[in-house]
Amino acid sequence: MTIAFLGAGKMASAMIQGLLRSGVCLPGEITAASPEPSHLEALRDSTGIQVTASNTDAARAADTVILCVKPKEVATALAQSAPALDGKLLVSIAAGLRISTLKQSAPASRIIRAMPNTPALVGKSATAYSVAPEVTAQDTALVERIFSGVGEVHAVEEKLIDAVTAVSGSGPAYIFLVIEALTDGGIRCGLPAPLARRLAIQTVAGAGELCLQTGEHPAILREMVTSPGGTTAAALATLEEHGVRAAFIEAVQAAERRSVELSGE
Ligand SMILES: NC(=O)c1ccc[n+]([C@@H]2O[C@H](COP(=O)([O-])OP(=O)(O)OC[C@H]3O[C@@H](n4cnc5c(N)ncnc54)[C@H](OP(=O)(O)O)[C@@H]3O)[C@@H](O)[C@H]2O)c1
Repeated sequence: MTIAFLGAGKMASAMIQGLLRSGVCLPGEITAASPEPSHLEALRDSTGIQVTASNTDAARAADTVILCVKPKEVATALAQSAPALDGKLLVSIAAGLRISTLKQSAPASRIIRAMPNTPALVGKSATAYSVAPEVTAQDTALVERIFSGVGEVHAVEEKLIDAVTAVSGSGPAYIFLVIEALTDGGIRCGLPAPLARRLAIQTVAGAGELCLQTGEHPAILREMVTSPGGTTAAALATLEEHGVRAAFIEAVQAAERRSVELSGE
């Protein structure tokens, strides 16, 4: 299998490291292209992959092309690699760009649109993807292997990608805000700042892991730590009084609306 990455930034680097770590690809099977030589050299030195300043050369060297540039750079990157994309699987992770839009720039490619998130950097991404009608079962299997290398992966209809963006694409930022707020609360209660932050981080990571490993509904896990009249009950009542649950629901809906707007519909 040969893969070209157009773009060599945060998400491309995370995915390349995931592919190598999970053994899906060998370094010699991956080429990355980007305009900035220093970024490419750093990536080559840390991973052993091949790099080039030419999107066309990268796309030519591969069966599968993964588009990892910012949404505003997508049209340029596709124009620069256009002839070499024909007949290939093109996987785009650009936020807000629909398969129909990508198809206009790469009409002879088989297109998959995916939405990973930044925990891909540590192999813990939540990715969802949707496929264009021309995509084969082999392509789907390949994309599952690629994104499994950086976390877990789910197939969805394209109409759900804006909702995926709102929950898991932007979601890490909401959780970082929770970590900041827990830390601030701890500091107000007298904890030293580094300890408060560490406790908050480990609590968020541990709570997520507990949900994953037990498979229990979060409401059950919440009830398990909430004794009547206890400390957790006092905290949860305060959170509900301040509308925290409604705020999260509305935040996700706002992100979904913004994602629809950005994709031009
Ligand atoms: N970060 C997230 O949470 C997240 C989540 C899901 C999806 N995404 C999507 O992932 C994509 C990449 O995001 P990122 O965070 O990895 O961005 P990034 O770190 O800024 O990386 C973008 C890369 O594209 C390169 N580039 C710019 N123009 C190019 C061109 N014409 N041809 C080839 N490469 C070009 C940049 O080169 P330079 O090194 O010269 O700048 C850089 O290496 C975005 O479309 C974003 O919507 C991001």
